[in-house]
Amino acid sequence: MSERTLIIIKPDGLQRRLAGEIIARFEKKGLKIAAAKLMQVTPELAKKHYAVHKDKYFFDRVVKYISSGPVMVLVLEGEKVIEITRKMMGATFGYDAEAGTIRGDFGTSQTFNLIHGSDSPQSAEYEIGLYFKPDEILDYKMPDAEWV
Ligand code: TYD
Ligand code: MG
Repeated sequence: MSERTLIIIKPDGLQRRLAGEIIARFEKKGLKIAAAKLMQVTPELAKKHYAVHKDKYFFDRVVKYISSGPVMVLVLEGEKVIEITRKMMGATFGYDAEAGTIRGDFGTSQTFNLIHGSDSPQSAEYEIGLYFKPDEILDYKMPDAEWV
């Protein structure tokens, strides 16, 4: 069964001109882009996004980071898309992330880790609702759907 996830190419990903590279990896994997836009995250939105981390020592830091410049937000769709994109992103910290993953290939930092991806169907639903209106998410068929 097809599911959806929220992906954010964070300010460092965009400033380092890695947006195309990151999106290309998801396309080549066979995932479908259901929504996409470039936007500036406000600190208010960032606080809602990271609400689960509000008591952690890094909360202020991640809120500042994700609202520090434009980001590209996407809804990706596909079977097991949450599990697949989390695997493709790699471990949270660049220095831990395996080679071959996005974080493993392009960064070493703990905080500036290029990409966000929802970690469960519940967080995906909450996060997609924060960033997209229902009519911004498109329902369409890919011609290779039967193969991928
Ligand atoms: P988390 O949701 O645990 O990681 P992920 O992005 O892999 O789902 O944490 C959210 C972000 O907070 C993470 O991308 C980077 C930052 N962070 C820190 O700066 N220090 C930390 O110790 C942790 C756990 C996260
Ligand atoms: Mg997370």
